[in-house]
Amino acid sequence: MTHFPAYALITGASSGIGLEFAHQLAAQKTHLILVARSSDRLYQLSQELQTQYDIQVSIIVQDLTLSGAGTEVYKAVQTLGWPVHLLINNAGFGDYGLFMERDRLKQLAMIQLNITALVDLTHYFLPPMVQRQWGSVINVASIAAFQPIPFFSVYAATKAFVLSFSESLWAEVRPYGVKVIALCPGPTASNFMEIAQFPDHLSKNNPSLESAEQVVRTALAALQSDSANVVTGGWINQFIVNLSRFLPRELLVSIVGKQFQPPSSNGSSSH
Ligand SMILES: NC(=O)c1ccc[n+]([C@@H]2O[C@H](COP(=O)([O-])OP(=O)(O)OC[C@H]3O[C@@H](n4cnc5c(N)ncnc54)[C@H](OP(=O)(O)O)[C@@H]3O)[C@@H](O)[C@H]2O)c1
Repeated sequence: MTHFPAYALITGASSGIGLEFAHQLAAQKTHLILVARSSDRLYQLSQELQTQYDIQVSIIVQDLTLSGAGTEVYKAVQTLGWPVHLLINNAGFGDYGLFMERDRLKQLAMIQLNITALVDLTHYFLPPMVQRQWGSVINVASIAAFQPIPFFSVYAATKAFVLSFSESLWAEVRPYGVKVIALCPGPTASNFMEIAQFPDHLSKNNPSLESAEQVVRTALAALQSDSANVVTGGWINQFIVNLSRFLPRELLVSIVGKQFQPPSSNGSSSH
């Protein structure tokens, strides 16, 4: 039987996959706490969902790259007095290019958002789930989690962390009837690629591009399974995440490096 949580907290709910989670959970009558930086978008969304689905929606405007951001979100939820039965750690961004040429503080902010905030929020909201022996955490990783990606190195490493961390927690809290799952989408239509400044050869006409709607449907269906991770999309994504089982790591990272190489690069960096 499909059993949707009564209250869910979604980070990065103002666009893309997080926005779609908000819509699909609202349609299942889940009350929502929406977190992101864009206050206007969150406010408008909260009004829309409350009217359309007759649910309670609260917003928390928070930059999750700031130190102590997880505590601020936790305190705001305490003030609200709502439980969190489903935590969706979705907010994240990437930054494409040669590591040493990219902005240093941006790389650190990415780690803060993709890793630190996710760990912090999980640490706050997981214990009550274990206590009541009911609840779930969806941590949004990526198919990028399954292999290193030259020219997208920090991002791929953050997602490898999310996958590993989530799978460990899956085993830790499974005996208490609580579920942790790493959601691993492939290329998905959202603002992500533009914000990451992907070149055209990586962002345009991608045959495996999925809609956020499909990714979220797969994620919510996977909540009913016993899996520690779910890879969305078709056979191309499945093929990519399994490559590391068959190829030596040096060969794999060289192949991936060639695919992600900037158009102007002479290729010497992939050897
Ligand atoms: N799209 C893809 O191809 C793809 C593939 C695999 C995995 N993913 C992962 O999916 C997740 C969602 O990304 P998306 O594709 O939906 O991208 P998106 O459309 O760019 O959405 C990102 C969300 O994160 C929020 N966010 C960004 N920086 C933030 C910050 N400093 N503090 C709080 N919230 C912040 C954004 O809201 P504000 O700007 O309002 O703060 C937005 O709601 C990410 O973790 C991403 O790594 C995406």
